[in-house]
Amino acid sequence: PDWPAFRNEPHTDFSRLRAQEQMRAALQRVRSQFGGTYPLVIAGQAVAGARWLESVNPSRLAEIVGRVALASPEQAQAAIAAARQAFPRWRDTPVRERAELLRRLAEEFRQRRWDLSAWIIYETGKPWREADADVAEAIDFCEYYAREMLRLAVPRTCHVPGEDNLYFYEPRGVAVVIAPWNFPLAILTGMATAALVAGNTVILKPAEQSSVVAAQLMDCLQAAGAPPNVVQFLPGIGEEIGPILVEHPDVSIITFTGSMRVGLWIQEAAARTPPGQDHVKRVIAEMGGKNAIIVDADADLDEAVKGVVDSAFGYSGQKCSACSRVIVLEPIYKAFLDRLIEATRSLVIAPADDPSCFIGPVIDAEARQRIESTIAAAEHYARLVYRASVGPLAQQGFYVGPAIFTDVPEDSPLAQEEIFGPVLAVLRAKDLEDALRIANGTPYALTGGCYTRHPEHLRRVIAEFRVGNLYINRKITGALVERQPFGGFKRSGIGSKAGGPDYLLQFLWPRTVTINQ
Ligand code: SER
Repeated sequence: PDWPAFRNEPHTDFSRLRAQEQMRAALQRVRSQFGGTYPLVIAGQAVAGARWLESVNPSRLAEIVGRVALASPEQAQAAIAAARQAFPRWRDTPVRERAELLRRLAEEFRQRRWDLSAWIIYETGKPWREADADVAEAIDFCEYYAREMLRLAVPRTCHVPGEDNLYFYEPRGVAVVIAPWNFPLAILTGMATAALVAGNTVILKPAEQSSVVAAQLMDCLQAAGAPPNVVQFLPGIGEEIGPILVEHPDVSIITFTGSMRVGLWIQEAAARTPPGQDHVKRVIAEMGGKNAIIVDADADLDEAVKGVVDSAFGYSGQKCSACSRVIVLEPIYKAFLDRLIEATRSLVIAPADDPSCFIGPVIDAEARQRIESTIAAAEHYARLVYRASVGPLAQQGFYVGPAIFTDVPEDSPLAQEEIFGPVLAVLRAKDLEDALRIANGTPYALTGGCYTRHPEHLRRVIAEFRVGNLYINRKITGALVERQPFGGFKRSGIGSKAGGPDYLLQFLWPRTVTINQ
């Protein structure tokens, strides 16, 4: 088609007064819609839940953003039945129509961009800039996967005298999309649109904590003209409906982003092939990280300090890509550490709707409790060199002040386990070899980074720092669709990278047809 080439959606420049005004107006508009109710959508019909979940603003716990239906096990079964019933027709819908749906969805997001950011800010405690980037990434996934599917839809042919061969793809069936709350629009949209454009029917199971944002996506999908039945909206409690969705014989694909614990469970549960299941399920899982940045002895410290602070404390470290270990070479250890602490001290802790906010709240009470107890436990075996106080905000929302530890034993939880909070372990390395050994010494391989100016060290880091996404002389979060296809290996993920050229293949079966002439 005559579509322009893919281009990343630009992020909003909030230094412009006009952009600030638009964001403030959207925050007000969306605030006036607080407390709305969001039903399930099964087979194109709005359905009340057996129970309702109150989604609160983590920045201000007194505010209820919305009430979301919680699906019962029977409703999960009904959603699977509806998706299965809708599958043959969607499979046989021309690829071009499916791709056009994604482009209309992208347009819907553009129209509602400010409001979508505001919902994200209120429901998940994301600061302005990061909420805006979340919406931009959702737009990118639509535009990119629409084009990718058209590319893949051209059959490959191979002719020899007397024989024609065709190689083409077809969709697999019902896809269950289990999404996290930390990129509440982008990741849910990315997984869902990939499944859809490939011709699968979809069940959206958003994270409990970001179900109102997910309901906005559902609304945008309907406004963009997604045929009823093709997408089911199924918010609910993971423990209650997750096993039904994962184990059901009519489900073909489970695409998941979240913790390693749940990802590994899904992989195991989906591998069983119950009676009546005529296929083997495909699991795509993007799991955790214990990501490190190496700061070489000749690094530009201005850049390194800023990159580490952004990577470790942006969105309070609640990204699978976040930096939770910084490995500093001996000669600059002290200079780097002093500046790291001062830079961290300068971060503004505030409610996420406040434009000055750098550190907002963490997502919920359980997260705050988990991070606080990790910090308390770590004080017994490592040295807490900086801890910000959140002051009176502690009464208002789920705030956690950033923490920096040194003297962290390499095999301790602080150096080995994902925390998903604003906690940074500083480790000291004798030389680059030692730094690489420490960097690679966890079960994860998601993101990593290095600040260096040394060409030989650069070469070694590229070759030997084994992670899915390696960034040199920049922060290690904020991968862009197409430019930095995102995802890891080892225990960080199963499957290929989101926003990359192999992603859609996971949602398809390849077929070969040979015609003897
Ligand atoms: N894609 C995000 C990032 O790169 C994480 O999910 O930060």
